Amino acid sequence: MMMSHFKKVALTALALCMIGAPVHAAEGHKYPLPDMDWSFEGPFGTYDKAALQRGFLVYKQVCSACHGMKKLYYRHLEALGYSEAQIKTIAAEYTVMDGPNDEGEMFERPARPSDKFKLPYANDKAAMYANGGALPPDMSLIVKAREGGADYVYGVLVGYTNPPEGVVLGNNQHYNKFKSGNIIAMANPLNDGQVTYEDGTPQTADQYAKDVTHFLAWAAEPEMEQRKQMGVKVLIFLAVFAMIMYAVKRKIWEDVH
Ligand code: HEC
Repeated sequence: MMMSHFKKVALTALALCMIGAPVHAAEGHKYPLPDMDWSFEGPFGTYDKAALQRGFLVYKQVCSACHGMKKLYYRHLEALGYSEAQIKTIAAEYTVMDGPNDEGEMFERPARPSDKFKLPYANDKAAMYANGGALPPDMSLIVKAREGGADYVYGVLVGYTNPPEGVVLGNNQHYNKFKSGNIIAMANPLNDGQVTYEDGTPQTADQYAKDVTHFLAWAAEPEMEQRKQMGVKVLIFLAVFAMIMYAVKRKIWEDVH
């Protein structure tokens, strides 16, 4: 017997609901992301070097214990306004493996500006083992990798709160308003006063979150300023070109009637 059209539609709708249901459960409660005023937004946006340096400090002193940035070299820090000597000093705080030497042995030496940022763990397995089974993602591209970008990363850093009634957290789980799915295996990494700022900027968890997000946004798109400047130049060129062409057209057609 043929199924009625109505029945078919109803069954399809039911099937779609069932496919959709677990996704909804995993999404958890949705809070709108904070809508921050980043200096690097908009067609003329630029990075704030002081914020980048503070953000790097927060990354270095807090986040780098768990999160690597495998796309960064110490020499890239020049873009934050550090001198060559300062970068040498920063790099030299780390010890890296080099070699083999003339005797075929690997050896340790202080890092140089031409080295990559030192990673916190030897491999993903070690990283997961140290973090209760959760993998701390690499931070090089995190701002680009997450929907919501900088607002999302900032949100996760300030979004820790008590779970709503009925939500039971596991051992290594924390409730976060802005994390997609709301459950996160990273404990709140930022507390007031944790990192010392030399420039008088307030040493609050909120400020650290803003600064480290600024730094991570730069890391994800270090060429952003050049790209935007190029866009503006192209627009100016096109405008001037259009004016010239208009003048030329007027000139050529001047006597033709
Ligand atoms: C003690 C280790 C540890 C420290 C320190 C730490 N994190 Fe994490 N972080 C983790 C782990 C583990 C995860 C994976 C969480 C998960 O999968 O639920 C994570 C996840 C994240 C995520 C991804 C959230 C998502 O949507 O997937 C961001 C962003 C992040 N951390 C930023 C930071 C920043 C910025 C700092 C420094 C202020 C920091 N973390 C410090 C362990 C750490």
